[in-house]
Amino acid sequence: MSAMTEKTPLKAASRDNIPPAEPLSVVSICLDRDTWGTLKLFTDAARFVRLERHLAEYRVSDHESVLEWIGTPAPDICMLDFDLDRRSAAMVAERIHADSPDTAIFAVSSEAQPDLIIQAMRSGCSEYLVKPLDSDQLLNAVARVGGRRKEKNQQAKAQVLVFIGAKGGCGVTSIVTQLGALLSQSLSRKTLAVDLHPDFGDAALYLGLTKYRYHSYELIENTDRLDAELLQSFVLRHSSGLDLIPAPQGTEPARSFASGALVQTFEFLRLGYEFILVDLPQGLNDEYLELIRGCDQINIVTVAEVSALRNVVRQTDYFVRNEIPADRIRVILNRHQGRGVITDEQIEKVIGQKISWKVTNQYFQVLKSISGGNPLGQASNSDVGKSLQEWAGAIGKKPSSPDEKKGRGILGLWGR
Ligand SMILES: Nc1ncnc2c1ncn2[C@@H]1O[C@H](COP(=O)(O)OP(=O)(O)OP(=O)(O)O)[C@@H](O)[C@H]1O
Ligand SMILES: [Mg+2]
Repeated sequence: MSAMTEKTPLKAASRDNIPPAEPLSVVSICLDRDTWGTLKLFTDAARFVRLERHLAEYRVSDHESVLEWIGTPAPDICMLDFDLDRRSAAMVAERIHADSPDTAIFAVSSEAQPDLIIQAMRSGCSEYLVKPLDSDQLLNAVARVGGRRKEKNQQAKAQVLVFIGAKGGCGVTSIVTQLGALLSQSLSRKTLAVDLHPDFGDAALYLGLTKYRYHSYELIENTDRLDAELLQSFVLRHSSGLDLIPAPQGTEPARSFASGALVQTFEFLRLGYEFILVDLPQGLNDEYLELIRGCDQINIVTVAEVSALRNVVRQTDYFVRNEIPADRIRVILNRHQGRGVITDEQIEKVIGQKISWKVTNQYFQVLKSISGGNPLGQASNSDVGKSLQEWAGAIGKKPSSPDEKKGRGILGLWGR
């Protein structure tokens, strides 16, 4: 293994291949002079890592919080030298691992005996780097952290798409269930539909999932004890792969939930999915504003009727007044007909914005899909199915082609 010099290929690689993203922050603890010099060279050359600070002693006492010591926000990586005092280094690793589990700890040492490596790993280190540090060794270890961060970011980034009708019966539930099934099956995207109707929600019925015990309002009420296991007891699985959290069946008294509970619930749900489609009851209800503020898109589903179009204008005004950015508001024209009484141009003039998507009017096909609980039945052989399929593609198509991925190589791990 050779120590890194200014001529390492890393320099060229880092300049050319790394997409702009937030660099990984690094804190070093008790590194010897040479290793510190190597690390400094590495971080100066690589824009995807940023050296935050060097700490010159092992702090093993509990008097100070770990984050006060290593810095807040916690660094992505701690390079911890074990050579000065192995026992203290292991205790430091344990403390950092306990208090800042997202920080990756790299043990650095000139010793390479298997039992010492195992001990370091047991104390919470995820990498064991042997001195003298080598650029490839360091690059690979950092790449693994970058890869995990990317995975986590992707996981935590479910897009929340809210759907609300301009008036009753505009087709919200038909769209949410069909779009959700298409995203799940045709595009292999992990998708969840949440029916937030306080009673008589139709999403479960349209998916043919009529037997269930728990519903969305109970989930929100239990948000404080929500974990993956509890969530599973609420989730119904459709054969397309779409998950659904259904609405109350309408046999219970009306319910409401504590402020903040809805947002907290969705923060949790976002961790497990790529897309969450919300079937929201229509009406301008402050209870849902918090959720809409944090969502990625609010889709107002309308039909080409005067009363519905008037409501689109009211809803848009209401959302904008409540600080929801106009570019997140989309208008979906359902039951679209080529030669409708009101033309598309007239509609856009009335609502003061472009129609984002048009879904073809085909009553028989939609009715057949929702009556059979099979939203994909008409997907490929009807105009309405095709328009939904195209829409699902526009939402869920994965951004990078295989060729692009190949070109980015290992350093593409930082892409977001
Ligand atoms: N693209 C379409 N073409 C023809 N008919 C449609 C279309 N989309 C929905 N429909 C029909 O409109 C009716 C209402 O649809 P849906 O239940 O999805 O509306 P909704 O907005 O969820 O209603 P609610 O306000 O009761 O929740 C259903 O009978 C459905 O078959
Ligand atoms: Mg509905």
